[in-house]
Parts: sequence; C-alpha cells; structure tokens
Amino acid sequence: MGKIKYFSENLDVQNKTIILRLDLNVPLNEKKIQDKSRILAALPFLENLIKKKAKIIIISHLGRPKGVKNNELSLTPIYKFLKTQLETSVFFFAGDINEDTKSKFSYLKESEVILLENIRFFKEENENDDNFAKKLASLGDIYINDAFSCSHRKQVSIHKITKYIKESYAGPLLKKEVEAINTIIENKKKPVTCIIGGSKISTKINVITNLIKNADNIIIVGAMANNFLTFKGFKVGKSLIEKNSRNIIDNIYSEAKKYNCNIVIPKDSNVSNSFEGSGKTKKQDSIEENEIILDIGPETVENIENIIDQSNTVLWNGPAGYFENKNFSIGTLAIASKISKNTSTKSLISILGGGDTVSAINKSKEKFVFTHLSTAGGAFLEFLEGKDLPGLNVLK
Ligand code: 3PG
Repeated sequence: MGKIKYFSENLDVQNKTIILRLDLNVPLNEKKIQDKSRILAALPFLENLIKKKAKIIIISHLGRPKGVKNNELSLTPIYKFLKTQLETSVFFFAGDINEDTKSKFSYLKESEVILLENIRFFKEENENDDNFAKKLASLGDIYINDAFSCSHRKQVSIHKITKYIKESYAGPLLKKEVEAINTIIENKKKPVTCIIGGSKISTKINVITNLIKNADNIIIVGAMANNFLTFKGFKVGKSLIEKNSRNIIDNIYSEAKKYNCNIVIPKDSNVSNSFEGSGKTKKQDSIEENEIILDIGPETVENIENIIDQSNTVLWNGPAGYFENKNFSIGTLAIASKISKNTSTKSLISILGGGDTVSAINKSKEKFVFTHLSTAGGAFLEFLEGKDLPGLNVLK
C-alpha cells in the first residue's frame, strides 16, 4: 500500500483555490464555543496558506445533523471566532453547492478565506454522493484534508471529493497525528494499559477486542462500565446502559482470558439523583433504584493510579464520568493527573484521544503533560485498531 501524500512547503499555492477540510466540530452551549482546541490547532496551517497567498475554502461539519438544516448546529459561532483570529477577510457561505456556486465565489482574492456552512446539512455528504462530490470538487484546484479526526468517515468532504479533484494532500495536523500514533504503537513498552471510557460499548467493541491482544490491562470507565457492572450482577439504578450488550461483554471476557489481559471495572462510584446534582460515593452493591452513576469513586481512582504506576505505556480514550458537571470530573482529572505526572517523571509513554477527553482535560487549570494528545476520538480508535481509514486511503 502506498504512502500518504502530504502537503509540501514547496507546493506553489499562490492564487490557487484550496479546499481545506478541517474538523471544527467543537462543543457549543447556546452558540458559545466551550472548547476552542480544535480551532486553535487548525490556525497555524491556515495562516501559512494565507501567507502563501492561496484562496481558501474551509469545509467542516458540526454535530450530526443528518442532512437537515439545524440552526443549533450552524458554524456561525466558529465563523465569528475565526474572523477574530485571522488577519484577512473571512466570508461565510450558507448557500447551495451547485453548478453556480463557483461563480459566486469569484470575489475571493488571494489570502482570503470562505467558511462553508456545516457540510452535514447536505444529505449527500453522508451518502458519499458522486454528484455532490463533483460539485464540491469543482470549487477548488487542490484538496487538503487536515482533519484526521474525521478520516474514518466515508463522506464526500473526506473521501469522494478526492476522486474529482486533480491534487489531494494531507495537511500537517493530520501528518502529526498519524506519525505520533504510529511512533507510539511501534515503540510501546510493556506493561501496556488502555483506559476506555465513554458511553457506547457497541461502538468500541472492535477496538477493545483488538487492544486485548496487545494490552496487559484494559480499564473500563464512564457509562460503558455500567454494562460490565450489570453483567456482573450489580444494580445500576437509573444509570445509562446499552441494551443487548451481554454477548459483547461475554466475548470481551473470553478474549481477555485467551490473551491474558486483565479487565478492570470500577469498584465504587459517585452517584446522584440527577446530572446536575452533587456526588455521593457508593459501593457497587449499594446503588439504589433512583440513583445514576456519574463518576468513578475514590477506591477505583486509587486502583487505577496503582495500575498506571505499574505501566510503561498508557492509552486513554473517553472520560471516566459526566465531566460537564465538575462534581463528576474528579475521576477523569485524577487519571489525567497521574498519567501526566508519570509521563514527566517516569518516562511513561502516554497517548490520549477523543474530543470529550480533551475537553474534560482543558476544563482543568492544571497543566498536563502527555506524549501525544490526539484531537480525534473515533478515528483515533479505528486507527489503533489497525483499520485503513477511508479518508487516509484516498490520500495514498
Ligand atoms: C469527532 O468529534 O470525533 C469528529 O469531529 C468526528 O465526528 P463524527 O463522529 O460525528 O463523525
């Protein structure tokens, strides 16, 4: 298989129209950006293209609108923020993408930027539609994917667009992600511990099954752990659980046995009657019907810290609790703190991924140190799984 074609500094982009796919999918609350990391990470390359006098059309998605326009998922707040950051004219385009769109963009001068409205407002984007890809590709001369975190999606602005544009490259952020993750996979030192959080076990089953083969410990946290607790016969009250997960978990335990991997689940939890409430520590066998598990408890934190102390490589994806309420961010921040400390003092190799994990960490005032912090969630996991991501495949 070929190598990914990366954007080169020698490429002459002056007066050329670059279609730049970024991941500006940031958390919003009442149209206010809650975490700017993804946008800030994209700025240096954008500034570089501006300096090189390219004309730039930025494409991004926000959330999962499934082809339906939804004001809540408009990229307008991101557009407004970009305008404050870039020293050039930045325009916003919320119209249709069709044969006339290119002529509508004729006002774009060298070093100027247009941000397109949420690309997932078009149903053809999700369908990886050929016609839509042709129309989108016709807007530019060169396509650059700098959204590693979206590269597991077979969607027009990531995948099919490359079929209809002459030149396609991966941008520097994507390059940094791929190289950092590859280096860590190649150089990982045992014992290896993977911490997997988040809510849906069905979306992480493949990666867990795959990690079992290479990891010494897999620690399950977050709402996903509720399924394991239920499997073990504990009552989890009103906590989030996924239906039909018994077979999946059964399979995880038998694979773990085969490969001698230790599966670790929480020993205690912080619970509340509501997501907005404050936490109460409970042992797993004393959770009441009206309670929701919203974080791991202190005994679990201590256990995880001990495992991290005995590890030489740690991979982490998905927060340990409902970190949006700071009463339930304690577990996530304790894990972050321990990994960070061991990365700087004991040369632990640490790699973290996932939009939520990064947002949770950014909420803290503490300065953390990790070997690599990936902005990607799903793509990070599928890449670790060893999958050939569709968005990367077309850049080879
Ligand atoms: C992410 O947040 O992981 C990326 O923006 C991809 O989003 P998606 O899972 O909705 O494709």
